[in-house]
Amino acid sequence: MKKSIWPVILVTLAASSAASSVPQAPLTDPTYEALDASGVRTLTHESHPDHSLTIKAHGPKNPSIESDAPTLGDICPGATSGYTGYLNHGDKHFYFAYFESRSKPAEDPLVLWLNGGPGCSSMTGLFMELGPCTVNEDGESARENPHSWISAANVFFLDQPIGVGFSYHTNDSYHGGEGGTFAASEDIYAFMRLWYKAFPESRSLPFSIAGESYGGHYIPVFADHINEMNKIVTLDEQIPLESVLIGNGIFSDTKQASSYYDIPCTNVTGIGPLLESSVCDKMSRAVGRCELLQDACHHFPDPLICQTAEGYCSEELERPYFNSGLNYYDISRPCDGYLCYPIMTSITNFLRKNEVREAFGVDKAAPDFVGCSNKVGREFQKVNDFIIDTRPYVKNLLHSGIRALIYVGTYDWICNFVGNERVFGSLVWKGLPDFRYQQENNKKVWSGGLWWESGPLRYARVNGAGHMVPWDKPVEALKLFKAWLDKKELD
Ligand SMILES: *[C@@H]1O[C@H](CO)[C@@H](O)[C@H](O)[C@H]1NC(C)=O
Ligand SMILES: *[C@@H]1O[C@H](CO)[C@@H](O)[C@H](O)[C@H]1NC(C)=O
Repeated sequence: MKKSIWPVILVTLAASSAASSVPQAPLTDPTYEALDASGVRTLTHESHPDHSLTIKAHGPKNPSIESDAPTLGDICPGATSGYTGYLNHGDKHFYFAYFESRSKPAEDPLVLWLNGGPGCSSMTGLFMELGPCTVNEDGESARENPHSWISAANVFFLDQPIGVGFSYHTNDSYHGGEGGTFAASEDIYAFMRLWYKAFPESRSLPFSIAGESYGGHYIPVFADHINEMNKIVTLDEQIPLESVLIGNGIFSDTKQASSYYDIPCTNVTGIGPLLESSVCDKMSRAVGRCELLQDACHHFPDPLICQTAEGYCSEELERPYFNSGLNYYDISRPCDGYLCYPIMTSITNFLRKNEVREAFGVDKAAPDFVGCSNKVGREFQKVNDFIIDTRPYVKNLLHSGIRALIYVGTYDWICNFVGNERVFGSLVWKGLPDFRYQQENNKKVWSGGLWWESGPLRYARVNGAGHMVPWDKPVEALKLFKAWLDKKELD
C-alpha cells in the first residue's frame, strides 16, 4: 500500500448510512471525536478548548459509492486527496481546502497559502494561481493546472479573516475583519496545533507560510506569532516553521509609496513610461509630502493625521494610475472587469454553483462567494491596519533563522518590485550590509529574471509577471517555489 500520511478514508463513509457494513476507519489517533452521517470528523485539542477542526476527506472516486453528486475531483481536475473543512472558534468558522502533494506527500513540505486584500479569498490562489485546477472562462468548469504548487508540496488554502471567501460567522453583531491583521493569528496558530495533533506524522515535514499582496502584512505577523509560541511550548508541541514566501507584498506604506511614481512614470519596467509627463511631474512633487505625512502618522497614529496622510497619498499618487484604466496588478494590460481580470468573475460564478460548494465541503451557512469582501477591507481601514509596518516581524523571523523568500512580478503596480526593493534594501537586520551588497553588486540571473540573497533572505524578480505571479508565469513560479523548498540556487 502506498504510504500516505493523510488517511483518506472518509470518502467511503460519507455516502453510506449502513454504518455496520463500512470498514472501520483506521483512526488510531486519540483526537478522533466524532464522525457524523456526512462523513465529517471533528478534531479537538486540550490546549485550545475554544477551537475545533471539522474535516471531510476528498480523494479518488470510490467505485463502491453510488452517488450522482460530483466529487471534488470531478469538479477540480488534477486535485489530489486531502481535506476540506473548517476551523471553528465560537461563532467564527474559517474555511480551508487541503491537497496532498502530487509528488511525495509523506516527504514533501507543508505549505499554508494566504491571499491578501485585506478581505480577499485564498480561493483566488487556488483557482487562478497555484491550486490543482484553474477555472475556465465560462465559469462552469475547471481544468487541471499542471504547474500547481501541489507538484512539490502539500498545500492548504485558508480563508481568513472571518468574512472572507467561505469563512463566515453566525453572530450579527460581528462584521468580519475586526481586529485587522492580528485578529486571525491566534486562530491560525490553533489551526496548526489541531492539525499536528491529528496528523503527527506531518510534524516531520518543514512548514512554510506562503502568500501574496496583503500577505506582506499577514505572513510576518502570523509566522512571528508561531515562532514566539514555539519558544514557550514543549519541544513536541512546536510547529516546524521553516520559511515564509511572500509575493508582491506590502510591508511598509511609507517605504513603498514613492514607487507608485516610479512604475508608471519611468522606464524601470522596460515598458514605460505609461502616464503623461504632466501627470508624472505632479506625482513626483507629491512623493516627499506623502512620505512626511505617513511618517507623522506612524509617529503619532491619531486618526486625523492618518486620514490626512492616506487621503493625500491616494489622491496624488494612486488616483492618477487608477484613472489611466490600466490594470493595477499588471501595467501591461488594461483593467478588464472585476478586480481587473475576466477570470475573477468566472471564479465567482463557479464558486456560487451548488455542486461546487458541496464538493468543496462549504457549509450551507457560508454566504455566496465573493472574491474580495469590501466590508472586511473597511474594517481594516477603520483600525488603521494599512500603516502597520511589518518589517520588524520579518527581522525577527530572519534572526530566528526562519528563511524568507520575497518574489516580485515586475509588471505589478500595486505592490511593485521597486517598492519591495526599497523595503528589503533597507530592512534592518544583521544581514543587511551583505544583502545590500548583493543587491547593488551581485545580482544573479535565473530564467525568470534577477535574484540575490544573503543568509536566510532571498529576493527574486519575475520579469513580465504581474501581481499574481503564478497566473502570469506558471513555469517560473513553480521553479522558484521548488528551488526554495529544496534550498537550491535559482538558475
Ligand atoms: C455575539 O458577539 C457579541 C460580541 O462579541 C457577544 O457579546 C455575544 O454574546 C455574541 N452572541 C452570541 C449569540 O453568541
Ligand atoms: C524602455 O526600456 C526598454 C528596455 O530596456 C527599451 O527597449 C525601450 O526603448 C525603453 N523605452 C523608452 C521610452 O526609453
